[in-house]
Amino acid sequence: MTLLDTLDRPLRDLRISVTDRCNFRCVYCMPKETFGSDFKFLRHEQILSYEEITRLARIFASFGVKKIRLTGGEPLVRKDLPDLVRMLSEIPNLDLTMTTNGSLLPRFAQELKDAGLNRITVSLDSLDNNIFKAMNDVDFPVEKVLEGMDAAASAGLAPIKVNMVVKRGLNEDSILPMARFFREKGYILRFIEFMDVGSTNGWRMDDVVSAKEIVQIISREMPLEPADPNYRGEVAERWRYKDGGGEIGVIASVTQAFCRDCNRARLSAEGKLYTCLFAIKGHDFKSMLRGGATDEELAAEIEKVWGKRADRYSEIRSENTTQLPKVEMSHIGG
Ligand code: GTP
Ligand code: 5AD
Ligand code: SF4
Ligand code: SF4
Repeated sequence: MTLLDTLDRPLRDLRISVTDRCNFRCVYCMPKETFGSDFKFLRHEQILSYEEITRLARIFASFGVKKIRLTGGEPLVRKDLPDLVRMLSEIPNLDLTMTTNGSLLPRFAQELKDAGLNRITVSLDSLDNNIFKAMNDVDFPVEKVLEGMDAAASAGLAPIKVNMVVKRGLNEDSILPMARFFREKGYILRFIEFMDVGSTNGWRMDDVVSAKEIVQIISREMPLEPADPNYRGEVAERWRYKDGGGEIGVIASVTQAFCRDCNRARLSAEGKLYTCLFAIKGHDFKSMLRGGATDEELAAEIEKVWGKRADRYSEIRSENTTQLPKVEMSHIGG
């Protein structure tokens, strides 16, 4: 059965944040000033167990969810993550994928593949160590992330996608070197406009390098032409190299909002369901799960939440909305 929201958008994509913790402190996501040593992360008993996550995921799949993406924080810092992948992979007809910073892939790539993960997206913001380290803020070197990507490629977690958040004045000079390098490698690089998610990253419109600008910068050296979306509601706008050398994507959530086709729901590590990346409030499923709710009751609640959904934050973003309190990206996943 397909669920439609108030704008007739189906529920197709479920993003599950398995932890709010991360071993990086990216300046656009978990700035150290807020996420320092005294930050109160969720305790183990506050987060959903793998059994609870899988139970909800099955109900979502029965409503037509076709893709499950595991996110965080950093999903691989949670203990025994391949166990969750194995449990979710038993749900039929799912595209099962993950967004990771890549740091732990050398250790886990093969195990994840064996457990049933289909493919992977790795975040990397520059090939220049000074810039990358300034962005991850934990002195993590580029080479180790590249090693992680290669481990994923050897394990067969294909296609590999790479996410680069572009922030003006920080890593715009990395756009071309990244494009050249990943074109050669054959991984699909996607450039993401710096977004005003959460309330701690000091977002300003002036810091956004637009997707249009990014395409122009690359096209000057390596001509690009637009490519058709792979599916309705695809977040990234695809561009291919005119000489046949692969493709890139741009995610223009600030300058060209794509809410009209947004089919994504997000489940936080503590079991709250969010119907928008910029939501202020989530719907509590953990209490229902732990209070003995039946599958039918959980299903009815999901139906109710999605049926009422009217979110389109990026389309109505303005001076006023950027000041609103919002849930952090590390809490609900990217
Ligand atoms: P595919 O499954 O490969 O098509 O991936 P995807 O495009 O769904 O990938 P991913 O989850 O890696 O999304 C890339 C980035 O786009 C995220 O990290 C976010 O920064 C941004 N993004 C994803 N979904 C949304 C959304 O619903 N709204 C907004 N505003 N941004 C989003
Ligand atoms: N703007 C854009 N993308 C962001 N991400 C995290 N914070 C932001 C932001 N403020 C992206 C990361 C990663 C994914 C988890 O979310 O680059 O790819
Ligand atoms: Fe961690 Fe990813 Fe956020 Fe960076 S963007 S701090 S790697 S969750
Ligand atoms: Fe979907 Fe909200 Fe992003 Fe719009 S802003 S695309 S409704 S998650």
